[in-house]
Amino acid sequence: MRHILIIGGSKGIGKATLDLLIENNKVTNLSRTAPDVTHPNLTHHSVDVLDGELPVLETIDGIMYCPGSINLKPMNRLSIEDFKTDFDINVIGAVRTIQHYLPQLKQGVSPSVVLFSTVAVKLGMPFHASIAVSKAGVEGLTKTLSAEFAPHIRVNAIAPTVTQTDLAAGILRNERIIESINERHPLKHFLSPEDAAHLAVYLLGEQSRSMTGQVIQLDSGIVSVKL
Ligand SMILES: NC(=O)c1ccc[n+]([C@@H]2O[C@H](COP(=O)([O-])OP(=O)(O)OC[C@H]3O[C@@H](n4cnc5c(N)ncnc54)[C@H](OP(=O)(O)O)[C@@H]3O)[C@@H](O)[C@H]2O)c1
Repeated sequence: MRHILIIGGSKGIGKATLDLLIENNKVTNLSRTAPDVTHPNLTHHSVDVLDGELPVLETIDGIMYCPGSINLKPMNRLSIEDFKTDFDINVIGAVRTIQHYLPQLKQGVSPSVVLFSTVAVKLGMPFHASIAVSKAGVEGLTKTLSAEFAPHIRVNAIAPTVTQTDLAAGILRNERIIESINERHPLKHFLSPEDAAHLAVYLLGEQSRSMTGQVIQLDSGIVSVKL
């Protein structure tokens, strides 16, 4: 059984991934609140990944880092503090996790790290300066570590478009907006958390043993297709 460490499996994409993994994997979840599920294969630790004490774990085969932010403001309203806060949760939290668990990851079988970017790195969109900067950092981290950790550890990132989670609740605030965001995508729908979770499960598993250094646009066509 693979041992997968999820940072942020209490909700959103992390929770959807945890749900898919739990029957056939040993899953350790770290988040500030517990997931609303119990299972013999699941261990939860309540911890803030930015400054909490990370628990001692044994051999790890996969790490998925889910915490992120959506802080959309025009440039003249973004403070330096906004940029630093977004960088902390998107980049520094991932760096801290990977550094801390690298020895355990090195002992894993076809070990895999999955990080999260956003379509807003490739697709210029107004009001995304802070989050795009941070996620560009995540993509840089993905590329660098995939080279540095080869041939044993793989590192990939998923760059999703809008996904129906608590994080996106401020964007998806009424039916009219939901319809217009759906309409903007060539495939006419944005993502469910499960859409991203299925890709994450693949990247965390041994089936993706030949993939590293990839930033995969899970975008319903919005970055990749011009109609
Ligand atoms: N949703 C979207 O539209 C969208 C679009 C593009 C990219 N993304 C990216 O995809 C990733 C997953 O997004 P999501 O929508 O699933 O996010 P989400 O619903 O906010 O879930 C984030 C998870 O991370 C945990 N978390 C947050 N801060 C934490 C901290 N300081 N310490 C420990 N755990 C923490 C949360 O649990 P607790 O609150 O219990 O700690 C939660 O389980 C993020 O990196 C996001 O930037 C999302």
